[in-house]
Amino acid sequence: MRAIRSAILALGLVSLPLAQAGAVETASVTIRADQPGPQVNRQIFGQFAEHLGHGIYGGIWVGPKSPIPNVHGYRKDVVDALKDLSVPFVRWPGGCFGDTYHWRNGIGPQAKRSVMVNTNWGGVTEDNSFGTHEYFGFLDQIGAEAYVSGNVGSAAPSELAEWVEYMTSPTGSSLAKERAANGHPAPWKVSYIGIGNELWGCGGNMRAEYAADVTKRYSSFIRPGNGKAIKIASGGLEDDYAWTETMMREAGKGIDGYSLHYYVFPGGWAHKGSATDFTESEWAQTLSKTLHIDELIAKQSAVMDKYDPAKRIWLSVDEWGTWYDVAPGTNPGFLYQQNSLRDALVAATTINIFVKHADRVKMAAIAQMVNVLQAMILTDGNRMVKTPTYYVFKLYKPFQDATQLPVEVKSSWYGKDDWGMPAISAAAARDKAGVIHIALANLDPNQPATVSAKLTGASAASVTGQILTAPAMNVINSFDKPDQVAPRTFDGARVGADGLTVDLPPKSVVVLDLK
Ligand code: AHR
Repeated sequence: MRAIRSAILALGLVSLPLAQAGAVETASVTIRADQPGPQVNRQIFGQFAEHLGHGIYGGIWVGPKSPIPNVHGYRKDVVDALKDLSVPFVRWPGGCFGDTYHWRNGIGPQAKRSVMVNTNWGGVTEDNSFGTHEYFGFLDQIGAEAYVSGNVGSAAPSELAEWVEYMTSPTGSSLAKERAANGHPAPWKVSYIGIGNELWGCGGNMRAEYAADVTKRYSSFIRPGNGKAIKIASGGLEDDYAWTETMMREAGKGIDGYSLHYYVFPGGWAHKGSATDFTESEWAQTLSKTLHIDELIAKQSAVMDKYDPAKRIWLSVDEWGTWYDVAPGTNPGFLYQQNSLRDALVAATTINIFVKHADRVKMAAIAQMVNVLQAMILTDGNRMVKTPTYYVFKLYKPFQDATQLPVEVKSSWYGKDDWGMPAISAAAARDKAGVIHIALANLDPNQPATVSAKLTGASAASVTGQILTAPAMNVINSFDKPDQVAPRTFDGARVGADGLTVDLPPKSVVVLDLK
């Protein structure tokens, strides 16, 4: 017998009196189907693809002459895998790279394109063979919308204005004719435009006041020729609420979105730790830091509410994920890391928090799509593997554009060394066909949990589900063993007279469908 502490997640981790429990931990979840919330925008499942390491080159784009199977230069295996996820949008070309990017270098005949040095990421040469046309060709293949991150830090407003005109102007202007001459007569739709990236840092080291003025200035000249684009301002560093205050007060009227970036560095920036060789203490630290985004979103939203009580402006968490030491033997500037079951738990917990804040978090992008940081996909030459994080996104597909159902969780406590947290993370939503989907994650790597779930205002006759777990915390999908962490049919949930009972194994993610 051991003491456990309970917490009510939905009410801000309020501790309840100590309780006794056996080896199996318990939790109760109430799903308020009678109080449906906002839509869970499919855009919270967005992805970020930067010119960084093998994120684009080798990972997505191999060129039409490559021996790696490709369709017009895009890797077929990667495109097929991404199509399966219904990726809503791809943020490109940065990141930090975006504020050094000059779009004119990436159009026209490939052999004539300028070669630049990627001063942010490894100092490698960038031949601009993946430019605007290649980006939109990629979006076409995977069926995603465009989120273009504009260069604000090192280019004039006219450069961004002209790029927008080149991409979106129907016909008539010289830029539209140039686009047509380069092979694409029809304008593209640019759904989202970032007004610079991390303007407090690599985007120009600006003060909040200056960044707000710059944002207003650039925003004024972003005029798509074929409809509205959501204009997204650069947020400050994580908990820099003063930056948010300044940006919302000064530039709020000219923007439609406000960005937040949050990375989980288990040991801090200087000693991030290994992606695969970690202790239970590092597991707990990683997940505890993951949960911190709940507070960041709540506090950022509170500041935004002051200036935008109607919640017109989207909070866009357009960079999030784990950031570990690079894989041994790889270029430190390429940010290549492995992805284990721990990352799957990070992804599920983060998405559950986005669903909780669906009233304000209207879009998000995991960093990054392929071969960089918490990647969905890893490649090695002609080989490809879907990571545990990929499978979390696959499991959560039914949440795309579903209606959020508020959840209250009373959970036992999991802790190791200095790091403690509620063991269970949950989210729920009802899709357009009326099916209720419940996502549960057991963050405790040692103890199973029995979760009693109650539905208010709805009933269910049957439950099916899928589970993502593995025998150890650090199991990965390698190129030789690609299915170590992959969804399996879950038979640990039962519907009874009292509601739903779920036997959650340790360190697992489960998504249930209730009919
Ligand atoms: O995703 C890697 C980098 O992290 C991005 O380029 C930058 O925006 C952030 O600091």
